[in-house]
Amino acid sequence: MFNKKLVIVGASGAVGRVFIELLDEMYPGNKDLFLVASKRSAGRSMFCGKQEFIIQDIEEFDFSQVDIAFFSAGAETAEKYAPIAVSKGCIVIDNSSQFRTDLDKPLIVPEVNSKDLKNFKLPGIIANPNCSTAQLVVALKPIHDLFKIERVDVASYQSVSGTGKEGIDELLEQTESFLNKKEIKPRVYGAQIAFNVIPAGDILENNYTNEEMKMSFETNKILDKDIKLSATCSRVPVLFGHSLAVHVETKKEIDLNLLRDEIKKQKGLDIFDSQDFTSPNAVDHAEGKNPVSVGRLRLDLWKNNRINFWVVADNLRKGAALNSLQILDELL
Ligand code: A2P
Repeated sequence: MFNKKLVIVGASGAVGRVFIELLDEMYPGNKDLFLVASKRSAGRSMFCGKQEFIIQDIEEFDFSQVDIAFFSAGAETAEKYAPIAVSKGCIVIDNSSQFRTDLDKPLIVPEVNSKDLKNFKLPGIIANPNCSTAQLVVALKPIHDLFKIERVDVASYQSVSGTGKEGIDELLEQTESFLNKKEIKPRVYGAQIAFNVIPAGDILENNYTNEEMKMSFETNKILDKDIKLSATCSRVPVLFGHSLAVHVETKKEIDLNLLRDEIKKQKGLDIFDSQDFTSPNAVDHAEGKNPVSVGRLRLDLWKNNRINFWVVADNLRKGAALNSLQILDELL
């Protein structure tokens, strides 16, 4: 039986709900759980399995009651409350971008760099990566281990749940308006998302988006600082599950059979072999699933140190709540 007291900050949000779902799957019947959100949701109840919990207002929550705090409430909330939680003796695992670039804070995907937790002094703040980065580095690890990656180019197709519950509502509302021939007024994204493909994130001065820059920086911090990665990140009208088209150049020649065997050995990674004549997709193979799925693994047509493939994963699970729970597992 699990014997730590946990709080989910941002329990009413898209990731918060998945945290609750996973906690019920992993530790059924656990009563030592607190749910926290903003004033807007305080007093509302949510179920973890059969157990009912009342959401508390973060401003009134006493972090000294809990051992672990999972934060999924955005960067501003993390900036203000995560240090308070640590000062009360709590280990914080934060899903926002707030602490990922801090050199003194680990950024962890357990299958890849759990070693970075080794000398980390607790209690403290551990950062969870951006959702696309989490699934990407799990897929890159076996290639890097065998053939040493030099360069990665990624195109992402990211679902609206990556923007939280507002993103989900925006897609559903716009789809309804479109089908009923009503006017569409974008609120959450800079352009219409229903029946469209738009950049993911805000475009910066260098013409990359902040999502693209996060992917590059975070891959260096988690997997290897010398990997050169450029990305084009897009938001697509998909509710759950991110897809990535990945192109990798390695130092050594790639042996596809060796790589397939290595992928099969890796925890949390599933492979769709060429003889399956199918490819993993967000709806069937990512949504509600824990593993990262890789498919369409094929050598470049021109160079044998280049490989192309497709990766899908549940952005709310491996990209957020599941990864955080796996970090906790490593710590314990
Ligand atoms: P609330 O529902 O009360 O606004 P999502 O990523 O799906 O948008 O969810 C964000 C989560 O973060 C929600 O649970 C939301 O609570 C919570 N949240 C947002 N702002 C704050 C805040 N200032 N203090 C505490 N929780 C917040």
